[in-house]
Amino acid sequence: KKNIRIALDGPAAAGKSTAAKKIAENLGFIYIDTGAMYRTLTYKAIKNKVDPKNEQELYNLLMNTVIELKPGKEGQLVFLDGQEVTAEIRQQEITKNVSDVALHKLVRSEMVRRQQELVKNGGIVMDGRDIGTAVIPDAELKIFMSATADERARRRFEEHKIQGITSDFEQLKAEIEKRDHIDSTRAVSPLIKAKDAIELDTTHMSISDVVKKVMTLAADRR
Ligand code: C5P
Repeated sequence: KKNIRIALDGPAAAGKSTAAKKIAENLGFIYIDTGAMYRTLTYKAIKNKVDPKNEQELYNLLMNTVIELKPGKEGQLVFLDGQEVTAEIRQQEITKNVSDVALHKLVRSEMVRRQQELVKNGGIVMDGRDIGTAVIPDAELKIFMSATADERARRRFEEHKIQGITSDFEQLKAEIEKRDHIDSTRAVSPLIKAKDAIELDTTHMSISDVVKKVMTLAADRR
């Protein structure tokens, strides 16, 4: 069996990371959440009062930043310059600003370079927005996961409820749509289905349906 590379792309809150974690676990592969890398830079930028619109300053900051993703008991742990920021990077303030940070060419090329370093040995499931198009254009398996904005907002809402966070459904949906809009319309590697990606509309699928489907597709390619 081969240590293949699985690229998982799609809009916000489509269930990519939940599915990716389980798929990686089933296959004994490493899971890499690239969104966490952009979120971590955004977190540091806000802390250092760097404007998310200032490409050069963001780039300089990134070049002096160590971002580490490490497997933990309950999923991936994220470290910024040696300090754990796993929970911090999920805060509202970060989610609101991350797409503005992620649209810059200098930021993206450095992130893509780091991500390509992480996938060199294969045996990985990587999720993001440009994995099948820019990070691993020759991935053995590419999946583009979609779902209606309503369904994605509903899932995020339920997720928050379980975590004890009360949120406003309409506001969640508006935020998701705004982020998708910025991600899909940016000039550099926008969120788009790679030509050879398999589209999975998960609107009416459960997580276990999604995992099963991807496992079958992966088995054919190993
Ligand atoms: O996956 P997640 O929702 O945590 O990603 C946060 C943001 O990071 C996305 O909305 C997008 O702006 C950016 N991102 C990206 N390219 C990736 C992964 C994430 O531009 N490969």
